[in-house]
Amino acid sequence: MLEFTKTDKMVHLVQNNHSLLPVIHRFGIRLGFGNKTVEELCSVYGVNTDFFLAIVNTFHNKNYFPKAQLLSFSPLLIVDYLKKTHAYYVGFSLPQIEELIHQLLLSTPQQNSEMKMIETFYLAYKRKLLEHLKEEEETIFPYVEMLVLKPQEVEHRNFDFNFEKEHEHVDFELNDLKKLILKYLVPEYDEWVCNKLMEEIYRFEKDMHDHSRMEDAILIPHVLHLMKTAE
Ligand SMILES: [Fe+2]
Ligand SMILES: [Fe+2]
Repeated sequence: MLEFTKTDKMVHLVQNNHSLLPVIHRFGIRLGFGNKTVEELCSVYGVNTDFFLAIVNTFHNKNYFPKAQLLSFSPLLIVDYLKKTHAYYVGFSLPQIEELIHQLLLSTPQQNSEMKMIETFYLAYKRKLLEHLKEEEETIFPYVEMLVLKPQEVEHRNFDFNFEKEHEHVDFELNDLKKLILKYLVPEYDEWVCNKLMEEIYRFEKDMHDHSRMEDAILIPHVLHLMKTAE
């Protein structure tokens, strides 16, 4: 599969894969790309071009994961990107899915217990996911920033770095949500809302998968390495 390079026009990236747009937005890069290349736009917005390309290509191609290169970037860049991704989930993806589930419920016959079950399941999933994001934001991310910026002030703490298990749970539950809808939705519903909801869930699932992989395979090894050097 094609790998984007710094001389590609930014327009070309989005035309090739429109789901890259939210990722590009996460870097603060806005539309109105003109004829500018990736490198030119990254320079306009003060974004590290190599980091941008590593993230975009990882997102674009599920078989592409330049682990050594990703590990070579500052953990601060990675934390910043992960935080922006959280903000996108909390501010956009989760409310969007919730609203669509709610609209779907309203479009089905009264007293539709299957649809209510789907909504309840989603709300429980969302609660758990928000807890997970909050835990990362309150413990791991500030800890990484301290380790990089003020290593002499770091108190060594025993975190449970095993997020992989939690990430697996999050994956499973999202998959269960999809199954619930695909298997149990009653046939009277608004097609447009349903299509949009499923599209959004699949998109979110892919995004979360990429995000978790970045935390498990890049961020945590970084933290462990920094902890060793700070000792
Ligand atoms: Fe996260
Ligand atoms: Fe996570």
